[in-house]
Amino acid sequence: MIFDTHAHYDDERFNEDREQLLASMKDAGIGYIVNVGANLDTTRRTLELAHKYDFVYAAVGVHPSDSAELNEDNFELLREWSDDGRCVAIGEIGLDYHWPEPGKDVQKKWFLRQLDLAREKRLPVIIHSRDAAEDTVNTMKEAHAEEIGGVVHCFSYSAEIAKVCLNMGFYIGVGGVITFKNGRKLREVVDVTPMDRILLETDCPYLAPEPYRGKRNNSTYLPHVVKEIAAIKGISEEEVQRITLDNARRMYGI
Ligand code: NI
Repeated sequence: MIFDTHAHYDDERFNEDREQLLASMKDAGIGYIVNVGANLDTTRRTLELAHKYDFVYAAVGVHPSDSAELNEDNFELLREWSDDGRCVAIGEIGLDYHWPEPGKDVQKKWFLRQLDLAREKRLPVIIHSRDAAEDTVNTMKEAHAEEIGGVVHCFSYSAEIAKVCLNMGFYIGVGGVITFKNGRKLREVVDVTPMDRILLETDCPYLAPEPYRGKRNNSTYLPHVVKEIAAIKGISEEEVQRITLDNARRMYGI
């Protein structure tokens, strides 16, 4: 059984077949899915999905690229939503310097505030970090993220940065990129990461693995990621499924 620790089934690219697709998950061996909010609107829809499907859980949070929408009033809404019984994490939160907006100070402010919220609610965090390795690690240290715990999702940095995150007790999220020709860096990260710290994720509709690269992703493609991890670690695909399932249930407290 597979645990997809990071999905966006609220995305409009699933509007035409969301129900059929989610109804097919159990037969395809997908036992659990955490749908992840990226702004206030998608977090609201994430909670709706988690209440509709017993195997779908919710992460409540605002992505750094959308962090300019946050203010003290709607932050209270996030706090309220995080008390929902279906909410298992705060995310996705973090830093994304790929685009110039919102500014670094805005991103960092709301990253820290959401780390505080996770600490207050005793929930793990799902961290999104792109082109911002040093500031992310420094902010995590500043917030004592090792006391909060969570995952650095869709990990895109070096093995060296992975070790810093592992030392803080974090998990490493691994998805379709590991099957890409240019996924060598992630394969090196998986090589140095203990098996009990690896989580499977799609980030669907994005980042479909080979042979579906460029198409719309979904959780039923995860066996291609499992196969690649099994080859790197020299263990069976069943073991990869079992260990990553245990890891995800431990982290999310499911
Ligand atoms: Ni995501």
